[in-house]
Amino acid sequence: MSTRPSPVTVTVTGAAGQIAYSLLFRLAAGDVFGDRPVALRLLEIPAARQAAEGVAMELSDSAFPLLDSITVTDDQDEGFAGAEAVFLVGAKPRGKGEERSDLLVGNGKIFGPQGQAIARNASPDVRVLVVGNPANTNAAILDAHAGLAAGQVTAMTRLDHNRALAQLADKLGATTPRLTNMTVWGNHSSTQFPDVAELRLDGEPVADSLDRSWVDEEFIPRVARRGGEIIEVRGSSSAASAASSAVDHMHDWFHGTPDGDWVSVALRSDGSYGIPEGLFASFPCRAVNGTWEIVRDLELDERQQERIRATVEELESELATVRDGGML
Ligand SMILES: NC(=O)c1ccc[n+]([C@@H]2O[C@H](COP(=O)([O-])OP(=O)(O)OC[C@H]3O[C@@H](n4cnc5c(N)ncnc54)[C@H](O)[C@@H]3O)[C@@H](O)[C@H]2O)c1
Repeated sequence: MSTRPSPVTVTVTGAAGQIAYSLLFRLAAGDVFGDRPVALRLLEIPAARQAAEGVAMELSDSAFPLLDSITVTDDQDEGFAGAEAVFLVGAKPRGKGEERSDLLVGNGKIFGPQGQAIARNASPDVRVLVVGNPANTNAAILDAHAGLAAGQVTAMTRLDHNRALAQLADKLGATTPRLTNMTVWGNHSSTQFPDVAELRLDGEPVADSLDRSWVDEEFIPRVARRGGEIIEVRGSSSAASAASSAVDHMHDWFHGTPDGDWVSVALRSDGSYGIPEGLFASFPCRAVNGTWEIVRDLELDERQQERIRATVEELESELATVRDGGML
């Protein structure tokens, strides 16, 4: 008789929100951890705790074979206890009349204490994905308070990566699995740089066959502004696609990226490609034995470097704002 593997403990914050309403069911269905049972810890603010309990009831009603247990809490120590994977989805949206600096500092007040609670309670080799916006800078704040190794805290640019693949597949008349070696550089914001220089179709370089003006004037702005386009058409922000990309990110982290390919991950810079150390920027990354490694050997021309500089400048100014606000 085969023995059941031990459960993996997974924390999701913002558990009553719209992304979590998709993400939690994908986690319970086994889309990230394969045949390992999942012990879910749903962390919410007190005002939304009851709604999270409703989500837990629905998870329970789904009778997922791999769902080991569900804990609903508004206590951070309980929420992160023993966590091996953490999805930080909950964040403070921009309030009426607030400046971007208010948003950055307001979120700093969430992500600093969450970093400390992770340090106190999570597994020492926990893998953390920040989804809540402004994701890169939230991750930088969390990282500064969690005391984890470089690469254990990441922010999500996988949705941008997937959006780019979808646009390219459409343009090239291909399916997305045939496309590899795409990179989103920088911030998860409108300054991001979706870069097709290394793009391959069925393993063959394909960048030269893409019209430069289409790339610069249609592709890059469309990917960068796709979030706004979804809000306009759907009437609310991307949720299931964000959840799906979070699933992809954590899946690859645990199981590895396909040979020869890479994905986009925002993590603490080690100075690669001239991106200042300590900044949380999106890089081309491979997951090797459960650890993200930045792909280091890519050559960047002046045009690419200029776009990377622009998004890095924005990240630097975000970091300066939260530093001025006492968050770092
Ligand atoms: N990185 C990306 O690609 C990406 C994509 C889409 C959305 N997002 C961001 O993800 C976040 C969540 O989106 P959503 O649509 O699910 O929002 P939502 O408003 O539906 O849900 C957010 C939930 O977070 C909870 N929350 C707030 N502060 C919390 C805290 N301190 N601890 C625990 N829970 C807390 C709220 O109570 C709410 O239930 C937003 O910041 C959004 O901008 C990021």
